Amino acid sequence: MPPFHRAWRPRRFLCCEPAFFEVRYAINPWMREGAPVDAALAREQWRALVAAYRAHGHVVETIEPVPGLPDMVFAANAALVLDGRVLGSRFLAPQRQPEAEAYRTWFKAAGFDVHETEPEPEPEPGPGTGVVCEGEGDLVPVAGLVLAGSGFRTTPEAHRQVQEFFGVPVVGLRLTDPYFYHLDTALFALDEENVAYYPGAFSPGSREVLRRLFPDAIVAGRDDAMAFGLNAVSDGRHVFVAPGATGLIDALDRRGYVPVPVELPELHKAGGGIKCCTQEIRAPKEAQP
Ligand code: ARG
Repeated sequence: MPPFHRAWRPRRFLCCEPAFFEVRYAINPWMREGAPVDAALAREQWRALVAAYRAHGHVVETIEPVPGLPDMVFAANAALVLDGRVLGSRFLAPQRQPEAEAYRTWFKAAGFDVHETEPEPEPEPGPGTGVVCEGEGDLVPVAGLVLAGSGFRTTPEAHRQVQEFFGVPVVGLRLTDPYFYHLDTALFALDEENVAYYPGAFSPGSREVLRRLFPDAIVAGRDDAMAFGLNAVSDGRHVFVAPGATGLIDALDRRGYVPVPVELPELHKAGGGIKCCTQEIRAPKEAQP
């Protein structure tokens, strides 16, 4: 047991019950079109996640699921909320694009202004492509920075817009393994300063950047990553984590974190886990408890 107690902070989360969850299309290597899913089981597993958050002192709000949007359960992708300001998403897959509107409506009703990325880059020399921004799926605030994934979904142009909107330095990280198509499948924030990640998901240069920024990180192996272990949520002390990530769980334990295993195997069939189901609503600094 480490001779210290890790402090935690209550969080405000937004989640979406997988009422219309199914695997109808395949937009990442985990998805097999038409794969059978047990909808009742998916709901039960999701409810256990929400119950675990609440049992540990967190506030969970919910958004009404929309029929015909099977991936809407993955709330993390819908926005990035920092300092009470909301940057709405622009999804790559046409099947998911309508989710942006549903979440925007929720945020507006909850009293937030919703800013969106510009559809096109500012005119600059070089190839102009559409902007994709998949919220917390690819954007991880930690250590006074926003770590920002690219390679499969969110585009580097969106990174530039994230920095401009929030005024927080953005560090771009290149993802190279299609199984880890979102940054939050390969890295999560342990607390305000540190992260856990799977180096094999990143380009050599990005790996080096992570090594320099986080010399004290928990470095996980491929087995833990394939078990959705890095798709975890930490409140600084309790780490809500997939139980199959046994190596990571041991490492967390040794470092004084308290792993809280939560199983979501039905949702893994769509390529999502705990963090994917969780949008964190970060209050303005002065309002934080
Ligand atoms: N089927 C969804 C997709 O491919 C899964 C999203 C998982 N979300 C996440 N934050 N990694 O878009």
